Amino acid sequence: MNILVLGGAGYIGSHFVKAALLEKHQVIVVDNLQTGHKESLPKEAVFCQGDIKNKAFLTSVFQKHAIDACVHFAANSLVGESVEQPLKYFENNVYGTMVLLDVMNQFHVKQIVFSSSAAVYGSHQVMPITEDYPTNPTSPYGESKLMMEKMMKWADIAYGIKYVSLRYFNVAGAWEDGSIGEDHRPETHLIPIVLQVPLKKRPHVTIFGSDYQTKDGTCIRDYIHVVDLASAHLKALAYLEKQHMSLTVNLGSQSGYSNLEILEAARNITNLEIPSMIGQRRPGDPDKLIASNTLAKELLDWTPQLDIFDIIQSAWRFHKAHPKGYGVE
Ligand code: UFG
Repeated sequence: MNILVLGGAGYIGSHFVKAALLEKHQVIVVDNLQTGHKESLPKEAVFCQGDIKNKAFLTSVFQKHAIDACVHFAANSLVGESVEQPLKYFENNVYGTMVLLDVMNQFHVKQIVFSSSAAVYGSHQVMPITEDYPTNPTSPYGESKLMMEKMMKWADIAYGIKYVSLRYFNVAGAWEDGSIGEDHRPETHLIPIVLQVPLKKRPHVTIFGSDYQTKDGTCIRDYIHVVDLASAHLKALAYLEKQHMSLTVNLGSQSGYSNLEILEAARNITNLEIPSMIGQRRPGDPDKLIASNTLAKELLDWTPQLDIFDIIQSAWRFHKAHPKGYGVE
């Protein structure tokens, strides 16, 4: 299959690219390198540098390559930044997807798998979250993902473009050999931040809040290994090929870990001291987010194979091998 991967040089995209090449697909990557890293791409992938919002550029890519399906990761994804700069999120995430769907329609490409997020749900009390829970995003980032889902729905009705929308919970970890991994600048996610402490890139980690309604007072999240996530995208493509039907599913492990449990696990895995302190709550953080993954099991035949130990272990391997991330800081 010829797969066009939008945002293929990003953290999750680059893991998918590697997994798709291993399954002998042809991979064409589009990335503007705003947050992605060219170094994360294997040489077997065809790379086209450009922005999905640029219709002439995207059209030229579809003209040059006979695309069978798209896998769409290209988006801004920082919740906090989205509250400060909401229009950036609507422009890059929503308008970018609009251009992509338009060009797909023009070239009769009828299959797309795309990154949605647990952020579409907002806050809920009863866990695990199933796909029929009401969507009520609490950030422009979550809102932009929900708008992307809605555009997909109407593009399906009007043009027959079938989609699988994958609502990720907390993605972490790295390729098993540590060759590629998570390198966000600035980094805001818990696991890479915790691992920056034993690498001496920060003196301590601040845990945001210890007065949440959870067993130890810190927030609980559902972590999914980026390699498991990549395989879910391949299963989603297989589903579209076979079923010709659109689908929205959660991707998570159906188990939750508190921030303090993550910290403790990282201390055990690195076998190094990780000083920590408790700080203020971070605005907008829900107490607890745990996915139901029953639907993914049932319809995509997907279950996570890797656990929190594998997640932190692989992330540690990547960070040790790339203490400055990709390239020079
Ligand atoms: N945290 C800290 N200290 C830090 C960084 C994070 O205590 O230095 C805490 C956060 O407050 C939160 C937990 O660690 O309680 C996890 O935070 P992350 O930033 O790692 O992840 P989020 O749960 O905020 O975000 C994830 C995805 C988003 C998605 C969101 C849905 O990364 O893309 O879940 O709520 F939108």
